[in-house]
Amino acid sequence: MKVIRQVESLTAQEKQQLFGWAENVFGVEPLQLSWRPKDLHFLFDSDGKAISHVGILKHEITVNGEAITVGGVGGVVTVPAAQKQGLARQLMQHTAIFLAREWQVAAGLLFCLPEMVAYYEALRWQRVENPVLIEQPTGAIPAPLLVMMLPLGREEWLDGSIELRSLPW
Ligand SMILES: CC(C)(COP(=O)(O)OP(=O)(O)OC[C@H]1O[C@@H](n2cnc3c(N)ncnc32)[C@H](O)[C@@H]1OP(=O)(O)O)[C@@H](O)C(=O)NCCC(=O)NCCS
Repeated sequence: MKVIRQVESLTAQEKQQLFGWAENVFGVEPLQLSWRPKDLHFLFDSDGKAISHVGILKHEITVNGEAITVGGVGGVVTVPAAQKQGLARQLMQHTAIFLAREWQVAAGLLFCLPEMVAYYEALRWQRVENPVLIEQPTGAIPAPLLVMMLPLGREEWLDGSIELRSLPW
């Protein structure tokens, strides 16, 4: 059983290992968005190298004007040689428990491309159908990505329109 390592920031070498294996690892480069760094990182290593990663941050959004603290999840990646062994799934399951028990946030929230929806749905995340406004340096814009949420206690706010009040993550 692999041990999950938790760090507050990634080294340049870890970033290169995790995100440097393709031009457009997350498929979002064409969108040319500005992104927000994560506050905490969960990693699997192999032979001293980072091979799988999930990043999180804590942030207050508004839903129909009501402030709600969420755990932002992003940078979900496994290097090609280690894919399809359940590593990302284990990190996502660990993340869900951490967000509920340690940070005690109302929900997890992530951005993804349509092809990833089924993957996250299998991990109990739900698609947000309502409008989501995200911040960019030029001002607020409708999210050009799908938004998914993992309810951790209350679900009624899945019904409201969301203002992220932050760069996406
Ligand atoms: C998506 C990703 C993180 C999965 O990592 P992983 O460690 O291989 O994931 P797991 O082993 O937990 O799960 C693999 C399963 O997810 C499935 N899967 C992978 N990508 C998928 C997708 N886009 N849609 C649906 N299922 C997908 C695989 O087919 C596999 O299923 P199987 O075990 O039934 O064959 C990895 O493929 C990756 O790094 N992709 C590039 C970065 C990326 O797109 N990240 C998501 C950003 S939102």
